[in-house]
Amino acid sequence: PFEWYAEMRREAPVHFDEQREMWDVFRYEDVKHVLKDHDAFTANRAFGADESAGSGDDMPMLQTMITTDPPEHDRLRGFVNDRFQPGAVREYQPQVEEMTKNLLNDLPDEGTFDFVDEFSIPLPVIVIAELLGIPDDRRDQFREWSNALVARPEDDTSEEIQRVQREQERAQKEMGRYFATLLAERQGGNGDDLITLAANTEALNRGERIGFCMLLLLAGNITTTNLLTNAIWAFEAHGVTDAVRTGEVDRQLAIEEVLRYRSPIQSLKRIATKDVELNNQQVQAGDVVTLWLGAANRDPEIFDAPETFRPERHPNRHIAFGTGVHFCLGAHLARMEADIALNYLLEHFERLDADLSELQPLNFLHGLESLPCEVRRTA
Ligand code: HEM
Repeated sequence: PFEWYAEMRREAPVHFDEQREMWDVFRYEDVKHVLKDHDAFTANRAFGADESAGSGDDMPMLQTMITTDPPEHDRLRGFVNDRFQPGAVREYQPQVEEMTKNLLNDLPDEGTFDFVDEFSIPLPVIVIAELLGIPDDRRDQFREWSNALVARPEDDTSEEIQRVQREQERAQKEMGRYFATLLAERQGGNGDDLITLAANTEALNRGERIGFCMLLLLAGNITTTNLLTNAIWAFEAHGVTDAVRTGEVDRQLAIEEVLRYRSPIQSLKRIATKDVELNNQQVQAGDVVTLWLGAANRDPEIFDAPETFRPERHPNRHIAFGTGVHFCLGAHLARMEADIALNYLLEHFERLDADLSELQPLNFLHGLESLPCEVRRTA
């Protein structure tokens, strides 16, 4: 999509797409402006919809921070915000290191494995399960649910699409019930896991507590998976894997550049609450606006040589985690996870050759289906 982004940034930076009947926004400053102006651009996807219509579903869309505006948003996020600040996240470091090492020890010492299936999918699920305090004996079940929630159809026949949808609904219901049980059990408890925190906050009602647990799982998994996969892909494609391993290239700066260059979330949506002008275009109340983070992160007004992967780029003002009140709650956690995972991975394998022939960029989530790697463990 990157050529399309470049053309649109130049020719039609705020553009109404007749076919999809929505706006597309491509420039960094415009994307940032919309994200910061939450009065004029709501994150509530149901804005303007006929609320009496109902979904006929016995599991209604649960209200969470990601689809609400201030002041509601602050209530739904406020109770947990501290737990994701850098200092609090650092306390999880030894656990994340331990989980990473265990995962690496399960991989073959030599030969080929799929980096996506064996490493970048399981690690974020294990970490979030730990934070939520999912008991060890339910971890496999938990993994199955998370996988079902993010599964994609294997072809575009309607049977396959429906099959995946049914599986997702099943997983969502089972998981919702499971979270409800854990939340009830932990009421009055004093554990320091996030389920106990949610169970005992007065800020949230019962449905919102379940919604919070589901959101953490959905928001933090494929995104982190794609960051890890994109990092190995980018290091291999640009021949810097060894330089990152030895520290010649700073790992943390390199991770930021991966976030910019192959942003795991390529786009976000907002809905205009009133008629507003955006870069000389008249957006009307009720119009849907697609914000292309992937295009903003390659805007030449902000970044030198934006189409070039420069692992040592600094400063790097990318907006891969969004901006404004919805700035990613898990950003510090995701950064720490990626830092630890890549550090231990490259230490563990003295040789790691990725097969770059298979490249399947996705539409709004940017990652790879699989990334076969041939490895040899460090002697
Ligand atoms: C919000 C990206 C990892 C939890 C967001 C947003 C982005 C984003 C762009 C803004 C959404 C919007 O404005 O509509 C990413 C990326 C990640 C990542 C690229 C990994 C590389 C995580 C992790 C967690 C998490 C690990 C949880 C542990 C959340 C939550 C929100 C959010 C709860 C909603 C915040 C709010 O509405 O106030 N993320 N995320 N994310 N993210 Fe992440």
